[in-house]
Amino acid sequence: MEQKWWQNAVVYQVYPRSFQDSDGDGIGDLRGILRRLDYLQELGITAIWLSPVYKSPNDDNGYDISDYRDIMTEFGTMADMDELITEAKARDIRIIMDLVVNHTSDEHPWFVEARKGKDNPYREYYVWRDPVNGDVPNSLRSTFSGPAWEYDEASGQYYLHLFSKRQPDLNWENEAVRREVWDLMNYWLEKGVGGFRMDVIDLVGKIPDKEITGNGPKLHDYLQEMNRETFGKYDVLTVGETWGATPEIAKLYSDPKRGELSMVFQFEHILLDQQEGKDKWDLKPLPIGELKQVLAKWQTALGNEGWNSLFWNNHDLPRIVSRWGDDGIYHRESAKLFAILLHLMKGTPYIYQGEEIGMTNSPIRDISEVQDIEARNMYRERLEQGYSQEELIGAINAKGRDNARTPMQWDGSENAGFTAGTPWLPVNPNFKKINAEASLADPDSIFHCYRKLIRLRKENPLVVWGDFELIEEVPEQVFLYLRHYEGETWAVAANLGQAAAAVQVPRLGKSRELLIANYADREFADFEELSLRPYEAFAVKL
Ligand code: NOJ
Repeated sequence: MEQKWWQNAVVYQVYPRSFQDSDGDGIGDLRGILRRLDYLQELGITAIWLSPVYKSPNDDNGYDISDYRDIMTEFGTMADMDELITEAKARDIRIIMDLVVNHTSDEHPWFVEARKGKDNPYREYYVWRDPVNGDVPNSLRSTFSGPAWEYDEASGQYYLHLFSKRQPDLNWENEAVRREVWDLMNYWLEKGVGGFRMDVIDLVGKIPDKEITGNGPKLHDYLQEMNRETFGKYDVLTVGETWGATPEIAKLYSDPKRGELSMVFQFEHILLDQQEGKDKWDLKPLPIGELKQVLAKWQTALGNEGWNSLFWNNHDLPRIVSRWGDDGIYHRESAKLFAILLHLMKGTPYIYQGEEIGMTNSPIRDISEVQDIEARNMYRERLEQGYSQEELIGAINAKGRDNARTPMQWDGSENAGFTAGTPWLPVNPNFKKINAEASLADPDSIFHCYRKLIRLRKENPLVVWGDFELIEEVPEQVFLYLRHYEGETWAVAANLGQAAAAVQVPRLGKSRELLIANYADREFADFEELSLRPYEAFAVKL
């Protein structure tokens, strides 16, 4: 495989609304991010994936864009954005823009025009259909609850919205729409951005009349056209958000020969703690055995015909240390365990803001505390269906998106140093204990574990290129894998449970050198007879 910078990269996701406020309005902004670039440089990351900063009425916190060439008023100005690109570059950090082009805001001028009537030149930028028997055109549903069709009184037609009704879906079958998208991408590429994270890109090939949403028949034609017309000429990272990707599908996107994307986000591991065939809110305990199998499958299935991204967290997911670790007594150990497990795998790791200091979920007691449109809509719909309030609040506490969106915890001062005003979403009350300042000052902190992992990746081609091997003859709760590269082998071991675990894999012998560990007294590993403490994780050379 031809080597690219993004194969060696570690990407840090910034959710600007919650990262750092600079002007006291309680909302994070671009000047806030500028202030924290040195912190990110110290962590050692290569690129920032910036969640949307474009002009937006914020029905879905910026994932509803009303102008792709302007900046959200609360976040600052285009001059701030240009400065951010330049200042990041000066620290060897590239800015990856969030490309949200499956839909726009209903306030985007294209939709404002389209709504004016059937003859408007912008009408076909969106998906309009006549009623069927006086009702919605078909049974497509919105990810944010209810039907995916909204009735437009003036024209007597419905328009499609796979997310909120204020996020009308663009009609990618219309060549004019695709040309608009290429133009706006080129606008950002010319500014010198480092690439794009592509929001729900697997939906753009939808065939609404056949109720096909993900993986539509023209999807890959569109992406090849996009590559040719835009970023193909640039050395950038492109990552598609693809909820429905199997390894075979991931190769279609990321095989370099096909001229599409650098990599995709696949969600197979993320879906393991929900009941099959149901929604994210229908919880079940994580089957650890399946987690190992799924991650191992992705490590080996792509071969040289694709590239993995590695992540536990993002702005849509609960915090990993609360979700599958222990945010109580084993907070530090389990946060580091997830870091060690992920960062020594093959692929490009992503860190979501606050993950590097072990930020946790932020439980609520009442629906009035919830900001997120997805959870609010779900709550309303399921209450009507007869679910109990208690059950629904439980599901929101486990899976709700606000968990990841509470303000970044910078220090122990008021509002965790996030804002001098009133934060748009309350700061997690644990900020006095969990914050970046404390983490930086403590050499044994979660932050320094991430920093060390990033350094290990930079200094050892094995981490980037080594072959992956899952060791199966271990207890269910133990994740043990090897990486092989040019005659060298590393072993990564992790006990995903609160109970100690005994491991016996004599063929692996004794370790030669400890690379990283989450218990300070671990010095070596003897795989003939190894005992792992609660949430213990380490990597050794064999
Ligand atoms: C996926 C994004 O990550 C999420 O935050 C957003 O709500 C939907 N796409 C719609 O844009």
